[in-house]
Amino acid sequence: MHRIIFLGPPGAGKGTQAAELAHRLGIVHLSTGDILRAAVAQKTELGQQADGFMRAGQLVPDDLVLGMLKERLTQPDCRGGFLLDGFPRTIPQAEALDRLTEIDRVVSFEIPAPTLIERLSRRRICPKCGTNYNLESKPPRVAGRCDLDGAELVHRPDDQPGPIETRLKVYRDQTAPLLEHYRRQGRLHPINASGSPADVGARIRKALQ
Ligand code: AP5
Repeated sequence: MHRIIFLGPPGAGKGTQAAELAHRLGIVHLSTGDILRAAVAQKTELGQQADGFMRAGQLVPDDLVLGMLKERLTQPDCRGGFLLDGFPRTIPQAEALDRLTEIDRVVSFEIPAPTLIERLSRRRICPKCGTNYNLESKPPRVAGRCDLDGAELVHRPDDQPGPIETRLKVYRDQTAPLLEHYRRQGRLHPINASGSPADVGARIRKALQ
């Protein structure tokens, strides 16, 4: 069974690689960012509470995210393994996860900040199916339209310069300390996340062997 965490700064390519690896391994891909964005779009109570934090590039409070994650992780489809993308992001989240389940490997994405800013400012997503594009590295076939369903692509509100800067600072202050948490547990596998998605994917598979 695979119980994997992808840890890394915003724009490092976690979502891109998680979708591919979870498919390859036949495990559930759990992105707390995607779950929260769906809640915002559906205007659920959780979504309404999370919306302002997300737009500003701040973390959603731990109690909200933990409640959501615990509920999701205890569903039957996670029994065969899971890949956590964007969770945990704070020490209290990591400690709560340690109490909830065993984790096998933590892959940490290492990449310079200027590359992150470039990737995030050029990202576009399909609001209908969630497919991720990049104006530079993965442009849609027809400008501004999703290849799969033709929906008009959107620029995430937190992919604007101000929120990007906030997210990078939040990562340094609140999430980077998790590297030491998992290093001490002997579960940390750092990978170089620069280069093409295919190269990064190959490095991740090697780290997980
Ligand atoms: P979340 O959605 O998790 O955002 P993030 O961690 O900031 O990560 P991103 O989705 O921005 O980047 P990514 O690493 O997945 O990169 P991607 O593959 O898309 O969280 C959003 C918000 O939700 C948070 O700010 C917070 O408010 C809230 N939240 C979520 N989880 C939370 C938690 N646990 N606790 C509290 N709050 C939480 O790639 C980026 C771009 O680069 C794409 O355009 C892609 O096509 C391109 N790209 C990818 N790989 C490559 C490559 N190798 N070469 C060139 N381009 C590439």
